[in-house]
Amino acid sequence: MTRLLQAARNCSPTGGLWEAADLQWWWRRDQHPDPHHQTFWLQDGVPAAALVLTNWGDRWQCDLLSADHEPTRWLSILWPDALDQMNSLKANPVELMVRPDDLYLVEALTRAGFSVEDGDGVTAWMDAAERPPVPPILRGFELLDRSQLSNQPHHLITRNGGAVAARLSECSLYRPALDLAIYSPEGRAVTYGVFWADPVTAVGLVEPMRTEDGYQGLGLARHLLAVGLERLAGAGCSRMKVSFDPLNAPARRLYLGAGFQPISSTRNYVRGG
Ligand SMILES: CC(C)(COP(=O)(O)OP(=O)(O)OC[C@H]1O[C@@H](n2cnc3c(N)ncnc32)[C@H](O)[C@@H]1OP(=O)(O)O)[C@@H](O)C(=O)NCCC(=O)NCCS
Repeated sequence: MTRLLQAARNCSPTGGLWEAADLQWWWRRDQHPDPHHQTFWLQDGVPAAALVLTNWGDRWQCDLLSADHEPTRWLSILWPDALDQMNSLKANPVELMVRPDDLYLVEALTRAGFSVEDGDGVTAWMDAAERPPVPPILRGFELLDRSQLSNQPHHLITRNGGAVAARLSECSLYRPALDLAIYSPEGRAVTYGVFWADPVTAVGLVEPMRTEDGYQGLGLARHLLAVGLERLAGAGCSRMKVSFDPLNAPARRLYLGAGFQPISSTRNYVRGG
């Protein structure tokens, strides 16, 4: 998947939805023990397209991916397999996140009984040269990265499970020095973000990012984001990417305020459950 998505990104600077790092981040939740649910198409031994099912516990996510970013060309090949596999899934709803301009996939989903859920998401990009200066951090708070804390439990455990550090360490694009957290004066990780530098595409991805309740609106995420973008640039990234819900006012203000420019949108299609 990493090779396929890196090829896709090098083929189209803003096409598709996902970076290789997105799927590496999903690895914490689903290590895909069943190879039946991951189907690849190869051209000359190189991954050219894939049908990926990710188990989020309460829903399945289905992704139809191609290395050339020509979804229309691949739809007739991937869609019959996708339908077969989605029909074989039990209990939970199946969700596809798509770009609304992917008209043939939208039409196939509508014909297959999928309906639109929630509002559209936004994907935003920034040139590394446009990154914001790092504002001062709130007095008494300290930013640390996982390379400085490797013998302490990972702060992402609470929301992402006890194996999160082990799963992250299995990911080829994960760098502990880009896994940041701001600690409160009481020693609690209250703002955190993981930054993913892809050396093949020179794209830096921000995912996830959070400030815990009670610490929001203090400029902590703004500081952490600016430090993360600085480190992504230092790691060789020429462009940065983030996706967010435009109705999430703090996230919108954080990312647009930092200089990200909305480029494309995503829409969720859901069936069953
Ligand atoms: C988005 C989030 C990370 C921002 O963290 P934060 O530490 O509160 O952010 P900051 O204090 O640095 O503020 C960033 C911007 O958001 C604004 N903001 C913060 N809290 C806000 C609120 N409750 N309502 C409206 N705006 C808010 C700030 O005013 C600032 O914008 P400004 O510079 O234009 O004034 C935080 O709200 C959060 O964790 N939300 C839940 C998880 C989430 O949505 N993550 C992002 C997913 S992509």
